[in-house]
Formats: sequence, C-alpha cells, structure tokens
Amino acid sequence: MKHLLSLEHLSRVDMDAILTATSDIKRRRGQPGPQPLAGQTWALIFAKSSTRTRVSFEVGLRELGANVMFLSAADIQLGRGEPIKDTARVLGRMVHGVVFRTFAQADVEEFARYANIPTINALTDEEHPCQILTDIFTFQEQRGPIQGKVVTFVGDGACNVPASWIFAAAKLGFELRIAAPKEFQPPLSLLERAGFNHVHAQQAPTGEVITGTLAATGGKIVLTADLQNAATGADLLYTDVWVSMGKEAEAAERIKVLTGYQINQALVKRARPGALVMHCLPAYRGKEIDDETFEAHAQTIFDEAENRLHTQKAIIAWLVG
Ligand code: CP
Ligand code: NVA
Repeated sequence: MKHLLSLEHLSRVDMDAILTATSDIKRRRGQPGPQPLAGQTWALIFAKSSTRTRVSFEVGLRELGANVMFLSAADIQLGRGEPIKDTARVLGRMVHGVVFRTFAQADVEEFARYANIPTINALTDEEHPCQILTDIFTFQEQRGPIQGKVVTFVGDGACNVPASWIFAAAKLGFELRIAAPKEFQPPLSLLERAGFNHVHAQQAPTGEVITGTLAATGGKIVLTADLQNAATGADLLYTDVWVSMGKEAEAAERIKVLTGYQINQALVKRARPGALVMHCLPAYRGKEIDDETFEAHAQTIFDEAENRLHTQKAIIAWLVG
C-alpha cells in the first residue's frame, strides 16, 4: 500500500517518476485518457481551510474517474473527538483513498496505518509535500533541472512548506537557503533527518550562519538571518505566509519579528537575472511579498497554482499504479 505522507520518505526515483508523469498529464489534459479510479470513491477530510488543495484534488480525482466526497473535519465525528484510528477504520471499509489536511503529522500517519487505503497528506503543521512537488515541477518546467540550482526561502522558515523544501533539497541535490530570523529557523534535527551532514555554525558579521551538505546528492542547506546574502545569485525566490493556519494567536508577535523578511523589487535585484519568484499562496501583500513583485511574477505564481492539479493527478496515478 503506497501513501504520500511526507517528502522525507519519498525516494528520489519516485519523485522523478511523479515529476515526469506530471508533464505528460498536463500535456494530455482534456483528451480522453486513462481513468485508473473509475468506480472508486475518494474522500477529502479537511480540518483547515483550503482553496487550491481542495479544488485541485476534487477536479483531479474526478478527471481520473473517481467520485469525490468532501468532509469538513468539524462536521464529522472526528470534530467531536472520535479517534483518528476509528475514523480511519470506518473510511477504509467504504472509500478507496483519502486526502487529509490537518494539524499533526502523526494524525495523517496514524490514519494511513489504520485505514489501509492510499492516503495523501494535503498539509499538516509539519509538511506540505504536494505543494513542494508542484513547485519543483514548476521550476523545472521553466528553468530545467533543479539539481545544482539555488532556492532561497524567505520568511517563516520553521513551518511546513520550508520543511518539505529541506527534504527535497537533500534528495534532488540543490542548494536551499532559508532566510529567517533565528526564532523562525527550522530545528537542526530536521536537517539531520533529511540526511545533511557536516552541519556546522559559523559566525558572520551579520550573525550565525548554519550550513550543511549532503555529498551523495550535492544537496546543500544554509540557515541565516541575513536576507540580502541569502538572496544573492538565487535562481528562485520563494515565500509563504508569516502566520500559518493554526498560528493565528501568535499573529502580532510573528508580524513584528518577521517584518523585513519580504520578497520585493530590491531583493529580486540581488537574485540571478531572470530568477523566478514563487509563492504557495494565499499571499498577503505588504507582508511576505509586496504587491508590485507579486504582480510582476503573477504568471509564474498562477502557473504554480495550476500545476497543483497536474502534479497531484500524477501523485494519485503513482499511488494506485
Ligand atoms: N497552497 C495551498 O495549499 O493553498 P490552499 O491552502 O488554498 O489549499
Ligand atoms: N504555511 C502555510 C501554508 C499554506 C498553504 C500554512 O500552513 O498555513
């Protein structure tokens, strides 16, 4: 039984297979094609808001032949405290696959263990694997192989999106720089879990810089509070919201500490000429990105949003293939 719960446990070979299949699926959209889910019913269980993930999965599953059922976690007994493992054993007897967005990564993993049907992580507090596979597809569609390139993540470096980027950098062999204030940098344990070794800290004039490498793939990680240096020569500038879902109570403090960690025209000038700018969305103009930069890169950002559909169809076909 295959699941997509995390990029940590997705092999390079499987990532490449999904990314290659995405190109074919995108090209063939609208033509009569295989319907591997014909006769199946899939459930989407969402404990957090969603526009892109919900719509792209609903459309993609239908295009692959499935019936789809959207379940707000608050409306099913899960929301009143029914255990995950009981919900999983019920759904596992009725539907053929589940797409699950929730808080704890452990809950998605427990669901997959008990349901015994293909289960996809549609975002947890710890990872957003479908998003980052899509982002890499989008980068490669426009700029060729990501291996050896430099990706600079700007903003809350301790949330789900950069965590999935860390696992991807280790597997696909690119340099990931996370530009974030010290309190919003990912824990070193995550770098170690991703396989980065030679992790060490250096004192630079602008503060501590942590670097790690992974010789087997050529992957590299840099954690720094120095946004300007982190952006210099980057092939991709990437950001995400400062206040992730579930962190609303910390909003004022987060905005205070993260102010300045913004993708704007001055920062884009430091990147490589022709660098891409991406945002997983939703975007908060004036916070993690300014309006001018967002609109200047809207074509790429909305290609990225559209590509959720194609990439997730490839993920599902890989899961059931
Ligand atoms: N990027 C993303 O996952 O968007 P939604 O929260 O709208 O699904
Ligand atoms: N880090 C964000 C991603 C939204 C797609 C969140 O968890 O809210």
